[in-house]
Amino acid sequence: MMDAGRHPRIELLVDSEVEDITGFVGNYRALVRRRARFVDSNECTSCGECEKVCPVVVPDEYQEGLSSRKAIYLPFPQAVPSAFSLDGESCLGFNPIACGKCLEVCDKKCIDFDAKDELMDLEVGTVVVATGMEVYDPRENDEYGYTRFPNVVTSMEFERLINAGGPTDGELVRPSDRAVPLRVGFVQCVGSRSVQRGVPYCSNICCMNTIKETLLLADHYPESRSTVYYMDIRAFGKGFEDLYRRSREAGVRYIRGLPGTVKEAPGSSDLIVEVENTLTGTMEEHRLDMLVLAVGMVPRRANGNGKRSIDEILSLSHTSDGFVMEAHPKLKPVDAPTRGVYFAGCVEAPKDVKDTVTQAGAAAGRAANLLAAGQVRIEAITATLDADRCQLCTICARVCPFHAIEQADKKKGLLPHFVEAACAGCGTCAAECPFDAIDMRHFADQQVLAQIDGILADDPMQKIVGFACNWCSYAGGDNAGTSRLQYPASVRLIRTMCSGRVDQAFIWHAFRKGAPLVLVSGCHFTDCHYIDAVTWTQRRIEKIWSKMEKLGIRPERLQLEWISAAEGQKFARVMQELDSMLRQVTAQEVEESMQILAKESLGGSPPILPKKGREQVLPIQN
Ligand code: FES
Repeated sequence: MMDAGRHPRIELLVDSEVEDITGFVGNYRALVRRRARFVDSNECTSCGECEKVCPVVVPDEYQEGLSSRKAIYLPFPQAVPSAFSLDGESCLGFNPIACGKCLEVCDKKCIDFDAKDELMDLEVGTVVVATGMEVYDPRENDEYGYTRFPNVVTSMEFERLINAGGPTDGELVRPSDRAVPLRVGFVQCVGSRSVQRGVPYCSNICCMNTIKETLLLADHYPESRSTVYYMDIRAFGKGFEDLYRRSREAGVRYIRGLPGTVKEAPGSSDLIVEVENTLTGTMEEHRLDMLVLAVGMVPRRANGNGKRSIDEILSLSHTSDGFVMEAHPKLKPVDAPTRGVYFAGCVEAPKDVKDTVTQAGAAAGRAANLLAAGQVRIEAITATLDADRCQLCTICARVCPFHAIEQADKKKGLLPHFVEAACAGCGTCAAECPFDAIDMRHFADQQVLAQIDGILADDPMQKIVGFACNWCSYAGGDNAGTSRLQYPASVRLIRTMCSGRVDQAFIWHAFRKGAPLVLVSGCHFTDCHYIDAVTWTQRRIEKIWSKMEKLGIRPERLQLEWISAAEGQKFARVMQELDSMLRQVTAQEVEESMQILAKESLGGSPPILPKKGREQVLPIQN
């Protein structure tokens, strides 16, 4: 942090919040609110005179509330910049009659109660999101008595207590009576790896953090005795197994089993822990001075107060765990699906310091490469606009997951402008456009329609027309193939980049041409490579189902499935089920639906309408 603070080409904006980011790769604009600090950090020498006279005492967040701070304070000893900060919410000085003592004693006159927030408009080429995580709050589930017993603390609190920069200068004391706890228990997986309590995933760092704490404790207090309650110890990583071995050799007792009950000993604030040792198959009771809960990591919650979080500002998608989703887990692990946006640290998944530093280096390298090149290379699969068909409905701009369509404005008569550098080629705009004014390069309407015609040219009653997204379902088919899983030849797949590309016109065309069964298949909701494009697929298919019902066509003839690239087995199973369904569709009902659809104008290219209210036609960027 010090190095970053001193680097001539790094500008640190502390106490700042990103309020908006617009634009696209290489041309982002970030609106940043720099909150008033009320202390001029260039002038402040951190002499501390202001802090001495400040009468306001509030809990110190940095010390996990285990000690207090003043309203004017140094956030922590290594803070950058090394200057005091004034907590505007607790300070009384905004009413000069009530206080203003710090102002009087500050020789440098660097305190300014009239300071205002500053709004900064920054031009940036790339964005690295490193907003971190939060720790699980054990008050949500009080099974270990965190809210009831003072000597039950979290691993974060223990860390502050044993840290030389902590509230007790590194002397470990227990909260109830400030005695040194010599019998300390550590409970693993608090809030992690549980569907009922907390989160289902492993938080990655807790085992090694506990092992480190036990070694610290043994080092500081050789007479202490630590007991670790665990499900299994996950010590993978360079040197970690060795650390675990050293902890055991230091006399730390590892009990495989999590405490069943925790209570206070009668007439004492010692703790009694009952646990089943699943290695020995015995029930054990341990008397402890302190119990430390190894709390897991949870994704950072969205900002409150109606403010948009960075996830919302950048339209970041999330995995089912709630962490942001990378463009590709193996090939682009630090890239966001949106070009020019990268991830570092626990915003992407729980990770330790080493992994975070590695990922941050990778993200910085990716961002620097892109900036140094001065240009971006993009796939040629982008949207194109037929200006004659466009009726300025603005639907395309609303559905684009990447905000790559600008200036569609009905009132001003502005045609949509496709920012090619931002377009990722999902095709949702093309599928949603009611006037058929948008097409996709390489996945053009005519190309897809021709594939449907090809599939149904002979023997259509034996064919299932399937649309599969490139990233998941199509790859799931590949997976089935490479795994030598058999699936019926009746299924004929048409690859699209995303299921969002599947225009309703394609589906109606297939039925019109005599398809007995149509399948649309894409990624699971949290896996879609185009942020939320898959949600538009779902809505579109639901609309088609209800239309089919109204027309008297069995909605079952249109199937929707979510299949991931790893689900080769599911792919093969779904294809077999579809093949059985195919046998139930009669030639008569296919014929009837063809006749019904011949009379309906559903999908396809509607006639070009007159250009109403269009005052300005912008060139389409190609
Ligand atoms: Fe697979 Fe969007 S990428 S459904």
